Amino acid sequence: MHTPDTSHYLFLCASTREPGHEGNTEWLARQAAAALPANAQQTWMSLPRLQLPAFVDQRHTTGTYAPPEGDLKTLLDATLAATHLVLVAPVYWFSIPAPLKAYLDHWSAFLRVPGLDFKARMAPKPLYLVTTSGDRAKAQPMIDSVQLCAQFMGMPWGGALWGKGGAPGAVAQDAEAVQAAARFLSAG
Ligand SMILES: Cc1cc2nc3c(=O)[nH]c(=O)nc-3n(C[C@H](O)[C@H](O)[C@H](O)COP(=O)(O)O)c2cc1C
Repeated sequence: MHTPDTSHYLFLCASTREPGHEGNTEWLARQAAAALPANAQQTWMSLPRLQLPAFVDQRHTTGTYAPPEGDLKTLLDATLAATHLVLVAPVYWFSIPAPLKAYLDHWSAFLRVPGLDFKARMAPKPLYLVTTSGDRAKAQPMIDSVQLCAQFMGMPWGGALWGKGGAPGAVAQDAEAVQAAARFLSAG
């Protein structure tokens, strides 16, 4: 009998390339997504296209945060609706791009929105990272930092898919990465 797939993958793209210019990281993530079962739901969002407010640390003043509004609410709702979270982020300065950092900083606020229960609702969602950079060694600090975020949140670590990037199209020449992409999300 056919079992409906209730998986819902949210792909959060953080490359800051101009609109209409697909980068290496998104291209590699789309190879991984193409191997998902046809009935698995996919949502793709570009973090740099969203208007997110600056994060303010209110932990030791008000201690709580109001429920988010606007694009931040849209992003939170998409995050909570997903069963699997895939961060699609090139290496920038051995780290994650600023739009992804802004999103993750807001997790600190989401954890303190009364009644949201953010941590418990995130805990079952595996966290994956798709990344590209000039060489693999330079991606390690960023991979480690994302894995530690998953650990802090009690989210299963889905692993990192790395490819050799550069100018758009470069990662398509990385045969190992393209092969790994086809298997990357299959365990989830
Ligand atoms: C601001 C910036 C910082 C970067 N820092 C690094 C780095 O620290 N190490 C590295 O190997 N590549 C670095 N790169 C190169 C990118 O990681 C690489 O070109 C990547 O494939 C770009 O991804 P995209 O095509 O998905 O936008 C940097 C690129 C930019 C724009």
